[in-house]
Amino acid sequence: MIIDSHCHLNEEKLYVLRKSIIKEAQEKGVEKFIVIGYDYDSSILAVKIAEEFDCCYATVGIIPTEIDSILDKDVDEFFKLLNHPKVIAVGEIGLDYHWEKEDWQKERQKEWFIKQIDIANQYKKPIVIHSRESIQDTYDILKEHTPMYSGVVHCYSGSPEMVNDFIKLGLYIGLDGPVTFTNARSVKEVARIVPLDRLLVETDSPYLAPHPHRGEMNSPTFLPLVVEEIARCKGETYEKIADFTYSNTVKLFHV
Ligand code: NI
Repeated sequence: MIIDSHCHLNEEKLYVLRKSIIKEAQEKGVEKFIVIGYDYDSSILAVKIAEEFDCCYATVGIIPTEIDSILDKDVDEFFKLLNHPKVIAVGEIGLDYHWEKEDWQKERQKEWFIKQIDIANQYKKPIVIHSRESIQDTYDILKEHTPMYSGVVHCYSGSPEMVNDFIKLGLYIGLDGPVTFTNARSVKEVARIVPLDRLLVETDSPYLAPHPHRGEMNSPTFLPLVVEEIARCKGETYEKIADFTYSNTVKLFHV
């Protein structure tokens, strides 16, 4: 059995198909699904999905590029969703310099990243970290504001050398579709070196469909392809990767 530790069944394309996707994924051994919020509305929908299906859990949080979605809302009231029994983490939160490159935008992102780490600590929850073209700043913030209940660097895109730095902060490394891409030498090396007890698997669906479905709509049904490739990189069996990532996810998120 495996767990999709990061999917967006709360995205329109997957949401309309959620029942059939969950059924098909379960037939392929994907037992549980962590539905990740990324702005105000998607977080609320993630909670609704977690209420609808026993096998689904939710996170709530504001991704760096969607901060506007919370500015006219009651922030304290929003994060009270963390009291819900099926809301298991704050996320996805972090830094994204791909879309926002201005200094004032970066400063605002950092401010909200730190604010949401503090909220996670206050509610005793782990965090789900999004970092795009910002790995050094992400690390610097995490070193200074280390989440007390751990977290995962989702869709890890840092160097193999930095893996150990994040692990030393008590964090997990999440790998998904890119590890299967034929030219992804760096991510394959990350897969090879990341310790088994620090690894999570995810799809980030509907994005980042694994090879040979690259470019198609991704869904949790493709998660076994990610596990297969990690097993190949590590020279381990599929079952061993499945067992470790399953228990790591349970340990981190208490699902
Ligand atoms: Ni995501």
